[in-house]
Amino acid sequence: MTDSNPIEAYRAKFISHLEQKIKIKEPQNLYEPINYILNLGGKRLRPVLTLMTTDLFGGNVEEALDAAMAIEVFHNFSLVHDDIMDDAPLRRGKATVHEKWDINTGILSGDAMLINAYQFFEGYPSDLFKRLITLFSKTAIEVCEGQQYDVDFETRDDVTIPEYLKMIEYKTAVLVAAAMQMGAMIAHAPENDTELIYEFGRNLGIAFQLQDDYLDAFGDPKTFGKQVGGDIMENKKTFLYLKSLEYADEEQRKSLLHLYSIKPKDASTKVSTIKTIFEESGAVADTKSAIDDYTQSAFKALSQLAIPEEKKQILMAFGKQLMERTV
Ligand code: IPE
Ligand code: IPE
Ligand code: MG
Ligand code: MG
Ligand code: MG
Repeated sequence: MTDSNPIEAYRAKFISHLEQKIKIKEPQNLYEPINYILNLGGKRLRPVLTLMTTDLFGGNVEEALDAAMAIEVFHNFSLVHDDIMDDAPLRRGKATVHEKWDINTGILSGDAMLINAYQFFEGYPSDLFKRLITLFSKTAIEVCEGQQYDVDFETRDDVTIPEYLKMIEYKTAVLVAAAMQMGAMIAHAPENDTELIYEFGRNLGIAFQLQDDYLDAFGDPKTFGKQVGGDIMENKKTFLYLKSLEYADEEQRKSLLHLYSIKPKDASTKVSTIKTIFEESGAVADTKSAIDDYTQSAFKALSQLAIPEEKKQILMAFGKQLMERTV
């Protein structure tokens, strides 16, 4: 592709495909929320990665568009249900689907999106179809497992860092990894390369979720697009929380455990107290260095790939840009 900003070019190409594919049908109460969430924007990170990866391995980007759609529709389905589970009022700066409509609408529109995601694979030749579907189903089940761990952890006070890392790998990183591996499969890249690119995506995805957890507490409400402090209100056992607990003195420890066992109606004092502990304990600094470490691990996987250096540079620039995001 020849745009001066290749990432923007992939995004524009994807969005124009999405606009052609998404149509309002009857019954409107099923399809309007689907249209709403898919048109709310978002970074389009995963589909961009699918297209980029197909291009990276010398494949035809046009052929990757439907797989990119499947991934983005699945991602948006997972957000609609995630926002119900997390009791989240805001998504991309607007009301969440279950707030704008209701919970039942969110459930059924989400279900339809999951099915629709599968339909986007129907046009692939049978060998490729089989490989894509197998990866997709494995990934989708892992996302469910990750989401269940996330919810289970809300009411546990003995979550460990390895458990947390597995949870975010499943709920977030595997989809980023699969988005890239599909791109490589569509380009008919050698098996070993599809595994290395999966490894790149998996590490980048872990860094991405660590960053998401950081922004959830410390992001700017004007740009973040989600309710800042939402994870603290929901007692989410994030890296920030687990590291704070590890470093806390006895008094801080009591305070953390207590605050993460309640859900006050007015959460402002809870959120500000916790954020101070996150900062003062050194958990923020640790989170930032973990983000760096996983980004570096991603780059290491990339360095083992036998592809042109300038193509690696585009992916690395994208990775770095992602870790500096405010949205
Ligand atoms: C949000 O994903 C859910 C997470 C895995 C953190 P994104 O941050 O990619 O959301 P959008 O699609 O850009 O809104
Ligand atoms: C979301 O994790 C992961 C999935 C949607 C599968 P979060 O709950 O942290 O995502 P946000 O912060 O609501 O986007
Ligand atoms: Mg959420
Ligand atoms: Mg969640
Ligand atoms: Mg989050």
